[in-house]
Amino acid sequence: MAANNSRLILALDVPTRARAIELAGQTGEYVSHFKVGSRLFTSEGPSLVREIKDAGYGVFLDLKFHDIPNTVAEAATAATALGVDMFDVHASGGLDMMEAAVEASREEAERMGIAPPKILAITVLTSRPSTVEEVLALAERARAAGVHGVVSSAWEAKAIRENMGTDFLIVTPGIRPAWSAKNDQRRVATPEVAIANGADYIVVGRPIRNAEDPTGAAKIIIDEMAPAEVPQ
Ligand code: C5P
Repeated sequence: MAANNSRLILALDVPTRARAIELAGQTGEYVSHFKVGSRLFTSEGPSLVREIKDAGYGVFLDLKFHDIPNTVAEAATAATALGVDMFDVHASGGLDMMEAAVEASREEAERMGIAPPKILAITVLTSRPSTVEEVLALAERARAAGVHGVVSSAWEAKAIRENMGTDFLIVTPGIRPAWSAKNDQRRVATPEVAIANGADYIVVGRPIRNAEDPTGAAKIIIDEMAPAEVPQ
């Protein structure tokens, strides 16, 4: 069963269902949501998402939708029908595209009688450089579209929190505890810094997945985050 006071999102960037279920079993007690990205979703599909949900965990479907508004609306309907708790779209896809996603997701949730999933907008991928102005402009556009929050690096989290107020989710990947390798991430931050900068959730993949003891690594990361209220 998922930890209900955790701010840790674990990236299930693994090739197979078996590996995903194994990693979920090792870390679930410390994790708030499991992030299912394009690799795992392409190989294992919606049935794995349902399986993770049925085991009592939150799911962040990280497919970064970016297409014409109608197509993204249809993807948003499908993600909502699948029962995920969060999914994301690219803010650079534009206001109309994001509005279409919000509207379609809300309608589907209402039809199903469930709470709509949180929609996050990708500002700028953490593997490429960006300016705070660029990120803030994308975050403003996301909020204007009715999106619930953004995915951004911990370095921009502070400016986003200051400019967007408290009622806006900030999810930060590119997290590297001091004891772990940077891999290909450029703008990394430790869990403490990300939370101190205003992140609601941190996304961690390789520092846990590649650890000799993933359970222990997840626990250390939880301990490294300052205790605080979890966003509703
Ligand atoms: O292994 P690592 O901790 O670097 O994993 C980070 C995860 O966050 C990956 O799944 C990556 O795709 C994702 N991500 C990112 N930067 C973004 C959005 C998502 O690194 N802006």
